[in-house]
Amino acid sequence: MQRVFPAGFLWGAATSAHQVEGNNSNADLWLEEQLPGSPFVEPSGQALDHWNRYATDIQLLASLGLKSYRFSIEWARVEPQPGEWSEAAVDHYRDVCDECLKQGMEPVITLHHFTSPKWLMRFGGWRGDETPTLFARYVERVMVHLGDRIRYVVTMNECNISAVLQDYVQQLIVKGDRDAIERLSNNQWKKAAVERCGIADESQYCSFIGAVDAKGVETVMAAHRAARAVIRRLAPHAKVGFSLSLQQAQALPGAEKFALEAWQRKFRQWLPLIADDDFVSTQTYTRTIYDVGGKYHVPAGTSQTQMKFEFSPEALAGVLRTIAAETDKPILISENGAAVADDAKRVEFIGRSLAGVHQCIAEGIKVLGYFYWSAFDNFEWYFGYKMQFGLIAVDRTTMERHPKPSASYYGSICRSGALPDDVQVQPQPDGGRELREFLKEGVGA
Ligand code: BGC
Repeated sequence: MQRVFPAGFLWGAATSAHQVEGNNSNADLWLEEQLPGSPFVEPSGQALDHWNRYATDIQLLASLGLKSYRFSIEWARVEPQPGEWSEAAVDHYRDVCDECLKQGMEPVITLHHFTSPKWLMRFGGWRGDETPTLFARYVERVMVHLGDRIRYVVTMNECNISAVLQDYVQQLIVKGDRDAIERLSNNQWKKAAVERCGIADESQYCSFIGAVDAKGVETVMAAHRAARAVIRRLAPHAKVGFSLSLQQAQALPGAEKFALEAWQRKFRQWLPLIADDDFVSTQTYTRTIYDVGGKYHVPAGTSQTQMKFEFSPEALAGVLRTIAAETDKPILISENGAAVADDAKRVEFIGRSLAGVHQCIAEGIKVLGYFYWSAFDNFEWYFGYKMQFGLIAVDRTTMERHPKPSASYYGSICRSGALPDDVQVQPQPDGGRELREFLKEGVGA
């Protein structure tokens, strides 16, 4: 029987402003990229020049068959100085929405995707008391200009990123990746960042991805609440949520409590916030297997992506089922993808991931849409331009776009809203017990 997805399912690909637009020079992470000793292997520079090429980029995505485009609005462009607004920037983002609509694509916006204006550090960054109000003021500016064009808003991307990054460093330690560990744990660049931001000391410098302590989490939560209130007021028709980075979690015997602790930090503490949202949004790339030492277990015979993640398309369905065990909010898959040089592996990844999503929908889980990460090979933060997540390759010397076979493959699924017959989920190499099977046991178990 043909596996058809529900009508209205959002079929798209995602990008974020800083990773594709280029020259985002008022942003905090742009500053970090320039500083000696920072974890960034290279600066983002001109990125893919998407700022100037957005129209042809969107046309290309539409011509491939995609029906939706998730992109982010850059706060540092809209408000280059506190209280100083760039009309040109909001006009630009309105044009991006309009180009999507012209091409028959649903624009899905993210209002914050990791980068913030560097002036925010003068207010304590993502630990600052005024930050939620400042964020809401920026959101108001955006929604006044383009709220009428938007039906789905993700306020902030991966609100749990700081917790995820901490765990990622742990995984690198287990894998013995010395270079990466050194880069990620070196803090020397911070002194220069403090000077360049004109702030008194390091405690005031807190980027979104560094907001790991209780005060940081509280600030991010308050910012979401404040932004949501603005969106509800100015664009009551729009569905609102925020995204979380969630990996499928499994535990070897005796390691359940480690998986539960991580789930508490990465998901459960956010549940009260989700309760008043319209959807829960997940970004899933792989699975994590906890072992008794609280370490991470990598099953023999599994292959890895360029990000050193286990190649595990079935992880997405695992996450959907775990979320569904916790809440009945509809789920938006705002990112899922694999960084692989061999594009045939991407085709396989997309097909198997979607086969899992289809099974979940058949089981009764509400899924709003699927956004492949990413539309283009782009600036992969600390890892620079080497990671190949894209459906479309970009020659950064000429800026020419070259769609890969996976782009046509995925585009034809988007067009038909159905899966090819030969695509099936695969059994996963054993990883112990699935988190949702022991969710109810609690951390004390
Ligand atoms: C982020 C993207 C990133 C992707 C791949 C997500 O954490 O939202 O910005 O490029 O994962 O690592």
